[in-house]
Amino acid sequence: MKKLQAPRGTLDVLPPDARRRLELYDVSAEVLGRAGYEPMEAPVFEDTELFARGVGESTDIVQKEMFTFEDKAGRSLTLRPEATAGICRAYIEHGMHKLPQPVKVWEAGPFFRHEAPQAGRFRQFTQIDAEALGSDDPTLDAELILLFDEILERAGTGPRRRRLSSLGTRETRADYVEELKRFLRSRESELSEEVRARIDQNPLRAFDADDSGTQAVMKDAPLLIDRLAPEDAEHFAEVRALLGSAGLEYEVDATLVRGLDYYTRTVFEFESERLGAQAALGGGGRYDGLIEELGGPPTPGVGFAAGVERILLAAGAAERDPGIDVFVAGTGRDAFVLVGQLRSSGLRAQMEQAGRSLKGQLKQADRLGARWTVILGDEIEVKDMDTGAQQRAESVDDVLGMVRG
Ligand code: HAM
Repeated sequence: MKKLQAPRGTLDVLPPDARRRLELYDVSAEVLGRAGYEPMEAPVFEDTELFARGVGESTDIVQKEMFTFEDKAGRSLTLRPEATAGICRAYIEHGMHKLPQPVKVWEAGPFFRHEAPQAGRFRQFTQIDAEALGSDDPTLDAELILLFDEILERAGTGPRRRRLSSLGTRETRADYVEELKRFLRSRESELSEEVRARIDQNPLRAFDADDSGTQAVMKDAPLLIDRLAPEDAEHFAEVRALLGSAGLEYEVDATLVRGLDYYTRTVFEFESERLGAQAALGGGGRYDGLIEELGGPPTPGVGFAAGVERILLAAGAAERDPGIDVFVAGTGRDAFVLVGQLRSSGLRAQMEQAGRSLKGQLKQADRLGARWTVILGDEIEVKDMDTGAQQRAESVDDVLGMVRG
């Protein structure tokens, strides 16, 4: 018989790791909630066209990495590779431009990209994604960057490199892309095969190239950040001033390339100093043309996505299980009723459920880190697991009184 295994690039999240994820979601809900971001949930699969139009036809994500399938009616559907396009679709579909702006939402869940799996890179991974729609106020860009940083800080990811840049408007970018293509063509012979093949499709990727020839050429390349229109340069200067006023350290990196086409103005990415090749803990930016592109009214937006697996990798090993309050060394109905009462009064309580001897049960109580053990025999004994002191209880109420301390 075939040995069944989790599909390539997927991850079983076992205890205690799954608990750490819930804690990360709790921290995110708290940090984002204080700034007015409300949780939402969009579907895990969408019309393929949403991502083709939203994320961009020329991106690696759309060209190579989507899990696309047909439903029984022949519709082309795709497992979402990212959250922003779906959230923007929902904003349009539910007329959310009629709500007071900005609309601030966040979402956590699984995403899918058909990439070559390696440490920190999966085919099913998890993001915490936050978006602010309906305003181009630079305080939103700065706010999201600070909220992202606070989540990473609270998660314990340790030192991180914060890269920031601005891409200007689509028009500025289009002009710049033409300028960059002319530049790349003028130095074509020095470029890697891969970069040369993509000069027309995606010349910006040349900044990302690993090969030293291309890297040397790119040192002389024109930079988009030097071509920004005055209002975009001003917007970026304000975002920087706001981050400065909050005391956040960051680098302006004019070569920052994000793998999605919808960005305008601010872009950012944070990298862990503790991770290897897949070091990006998350990133994001502004996408002032995306909602219109998807058929909605002209609406600015900005957001980020944080990679849950990488955050937890950077944060290191899980803490020990916090333990339980009471272990009931006993079986059957009496024990069952007692753990029920203990749980009702808010305690973490477990009973013997695997047929151990009394000695085995006491060992199990130890393993579970129980604060108290209640031994149900002819008498009821309550053992303080810290001091080893044992006391007789006359009734269940008596037990509750002792263990609730
Ligand atoms: P992204 O940079 O494509 O941005 O993904 C954000 C983060 O998700 C990455 O930095 C990484 O931590 C994690 N991630 C991406 N792919 C994988 C993978 N295959 N395995 C493990 N982790 C991965 C976006 O997705 C944009 N939607 C962010 C955004 C929101 N921009 C504006 N709003």
